[in-house]
Amino acid sequence: MKTAITDLFGVKYPILNAGMGRVALPNMVAAVSNAGGLGVLGCGSNPPELTREYIREIRTLTDKPFGGNAPLMLPNGRANAEVMLEEKVHVVNYSMGKGDWIAKAAHEYGGKAIASVTNQHLAQRAQAHGADAVIAAGLEAAGHAGDVTCFVLIRRLAQMLDIPVIAAGGVADGTGLVGALALGASGVSMGTRFWTTQEGPMHQNFKDKAVELDITDTIFSDKYDGVMNRVMKTPAAVRALNGRVNPIAVFFSSFSLARELNIPYLKLFMDVIKSGPKNTYDMMRMSQMLQMHTITLTTGDMQKGMTASGMSVGLVNDVPTIAELMERIVDEAREAYARLNEQMSEDAATSSSSPEAA
Ligand SMILES: Cc1cc2nc3c(=O)[nH]c(=O)nc-3n(C[C@H](O)[C@H](O)[C@H](O)COP(=O)(O)O)c2cc1C
Repeated sequence: MKTAITDLFGVKYPILNAGMGRVALPNMVAAVSNAGGLGVLGCGSNPPELTREYIREIRTLTDKPFGGNAPLMLPNGRANAEVMLEEKVHVVNYSMGKGDWIAKAAHEYGGKAIASVTNQHLAQRAQAHGADAVIAAGLEAAGHAGDVTCFVLIRRLAQMLDIPVIAAGGVADGTGLVGALALGASGVSMGTRFWTTQEGPMHQNFKDKAVELDITDTIFSDKYDGVMNRVMKTPAAVRALNGRVNPIAVFFSSFSLARELNIPYLKLFMDVIKSGPKNTYDMMRMSQMLQMHTITLTTGDMQKGMTASGMSVGLVNDVPTIAELMERIVDEAREAYARLNEQMSEDAATSSSSPEAA
C-alpha cells in the first residue's frame, strides 16, 4: 500500500474521498483521514467564511493530513482556494481552471497541490504549472467526467506524466483499487462510494436508491449545466434532460442561491448577465440543478431530487460507516493482489514445466 501518493501526502492508504461540494463535509473528511486515507473537503460554491469554519472544524476532528477541493470556475471557487492556502491546508485540490498560483502558494508552506483533469492536455498543463499530482476522471466518473474511459485514460497519463496519477471513476472497492494501481495510478479518488456511507449527508432515500441501482443507471449529458455531467437516473434527472429551463422558477430560486453563496443578489445577477447569453443560460440550468440537489440533502423526495453519481453506483451494495468501508477496501485490495500473485505464479510454474519451455 506504499505508493507515490502515500509518501507525498503522508497517509497510510492511497485512497481519497472526492471533494464533493455540499457532500464531503468535515465529518466525512475526518473519517477518511482518521481511517488512513486522505479526506478532502468539498468547498463547491461555499461562502469562503464557511470554508474556513469547516477547515477549523476538521482540525478538531483529526490530526491527520487532509485536503480540500475548489472548483475555480464556480462562484466563490477562487476565494475558497485562497482560504485553503491561508489556512495552510495540507493538500489543495483544484478543478475547472488554472492552478499555477495555487501550486506556488501551497509549496511555500510545504503543502501540495492536485489538479483534477479529464484529458491529456489538462494533465500536461497541470504538471507544467507545478501540480504535485493529478486526479484523472474517466468517462465512468460522477459529475464533470471525461470522454475517455478510466482504463485508457489512467494508463495513458501514467505513461505521459512524471507526477503521480490518481484514478477517479468506476472504483468502489479494493479490487478496483488494485486495478487502478496496475494501470499505473498511484491511488484512487472515490465519490459515489463515499456519499453512500453513514457519514454521507444525503437523505437515506437516495442512499437506498443507490444500493438498488445498476451500472447503467446514470445519465451523461450537457443538458444540466452546459458541460457533460454524469448524474443518477432519477425521475427529475430524466425530466430535466427533456425539459427547458423555467425562467420564473429560476428567478425565485436565485434569491435563495444568492443567500446560500452569501453574494449580494444584485451582484450575482449582474455577474451572470455580464458573462454572456450562453453562460447565463447555463447558470440558469445550474441553478435549477442545485435546487434539485438540495432535495437530496433535505426532504429526499425521489421524484424531485437529483445528484451526481458515477457508473460505480452499480457496485454499491450497502451503506457502511467510512471506517468499515476503508477497512474492507484494504482487505479486498490485499485479497485481489494475492489472487493475482497466485495466478501469476501458477502460470509461471505451468509454463516452466511445459515441454515448450524446455
Ligand atoms: C455528489 C457529487 C458531488 C461532486 N462534486 C464535485 C466537486 O464539487 N468538485 C469536483 O472536482 N468533483 C466533484 N465530483 C466528482 C468527483 O470529484 C469524482 O470525479 C467522481 O465522483 C468520481 O467518480 P465516482 O463517483 O464513480 O467515484 C462530485 C461527485 C459526486 C458524486
